[in-house]
Amino acid sequence: MRPVLLVANWKMHGSRASVDALVGRIVEGVVPDSGTEIVLCPPALYLWRLEQLLANSTLRLGVQNIHEEAQGAFTGEISAPMVREFGCRYAIVGHSERRQLYAESDELVARKSMAALRHGLKPIVCVGETVTERDAGLTLSVVERQLKAVLERLDSEDAARIVVAYEPVWAIGTGRSASADEAQQVHGSIWQQLLAWTARGWAVPLLYGGSVKPDNSALLLSQPDIDGVLVGGASLDAEQFLAICTTAKR
Ligand code: PGA
Repeated sequence: MRPVLLVANWKMHGSRASVDALVGRIVEGVVPDSGTEIVLCPPALYLWRLEQLLANSTLRLGVQNIHEEAQGAFTGEISAPMVREFGCRYAIVGHSERRQLYAESDELVARKSMAALRHGLKPIVCVGETVTERDAGLTLSVVERQLKAVLERLDSEDAARIVVAYEPVWAIGTGRSASADEAQQVHGSIWQQLLAWTARGWAVPLLYGGSVKPDNSALLLSQPDIDGVLVGGASLDAEQFLAICTTAKR
């Protein structure tokens, strides 16, 4: 059975003091569960600190973005081997904020996914439609196109090492989550795509993200094709994030 995966994406939030307080509270409050993996993705600057703070815990570390190359003249960028050195196991790639604000293409997201895999990180590949695309009935085709760009560059063995997150753009940071039915419908279609890609596709954890809160996480996580959640805003509040974690027991 796939593990339940709960991923906190802190985006560009935090300070030395708030990061210490937040991690301290999460570590203290989390109830270890062998079927659940919790991953914290702080701003990259704080990875070193989280590596220290999580040293004796079961929580995992992830990064919010990586460059597609391992090193070179890329001012301001951070590579997969660098974050790997600081204990990262996961890398979010293709978040809609990166696609929209930094013009990341499907092709670039695919290259970042490959870079993550090459250096021992599990890419959390984000896909999702805008509200205009949804209104035009394009949800499934957009998600399929975004995912196809990544899958066609991977080997079937990579199925055991990737994560996919469906995050409708209109649900991110808006307080308007997709309903459990809406999310399930898209997840069902992603499943078909993963299984058509390879019989090993069943191993890929499939997350939902977009305004996940303690009051909707249980229903979302009870859907047959939703294996976990990617949480933005609510992951900055230890009590809310812990509450989401407790709804995730299978
Ligand atoms: P949100 O963000 O939970 O604040 O909507 C989710 C995300 O961007 O990953």
